[in-house]
Amino acid sequence: MSAKIDKTNVTDEKEREFTSDEVRDHDERDSLWVIVDAGVYDVTRFIDDHPGGEDVLKEFGGRDASQRFLEVGHSADAHELMKKYRIGRVVDYDDTDVPDGTDTSAPEYSEGVGWLPLMAGLCASVIAYYVLNYVF
Ligand code: HEM
Repeated sequence: MSAKIDKTNVTDEKEREFTSDEVRDHDERDSLWVIVDAGVYDVTRFIDDHPGGEDVLKEFGGRDASQRFLEVGHSADAHELMKKYRIGRVVDYDDTDVPDGTDTSAPEYSEGVGWLPLMAGLCASVIAYYVLNYVF
């Protein structure tokens, strides 16, 4: 593994740096990593102990789980506990897609964007209604 040490963000620990491609390889039960807010967490040994169950961790294995993680509203204890599993951070983390609770990986995972087309459709219907009633 060619991960180098991050010299810009060293506190008392050395942070390893990963690309999101590297993280993506760890999506199996025997090596399961998730990304939360640019941090990389190796939850392989936590799967059986996770109070939220293993399914949700496996679902997000190898990718960004920030939105889901935040939605759950994990307790302070959970945040404290997760430090134990942190193995580094993602260098090419792109959070422009996920400013405030929007979906992280729209192409593979489309949950959460359904209301947009719905609103567009609703607006179009309202406009059509007025045009048909008042113009013709
Ligand atoms: C190292 C990372 C994680 C740790 C240490 C952790 C820890 C915990 C803990 C302690 C709880 C019990 C409730 C609480 O204290 O907040 C919990 C619940 C839960 N977690 Fe996690 N979690 C992690 C990652 C994740 C991720 C990545 C997801 C989703 C993508 C997730 C989804 C859930 C869900 C759905 C629950 C159940 C909430 C409920 O029953 O209402 N967790 N987690």
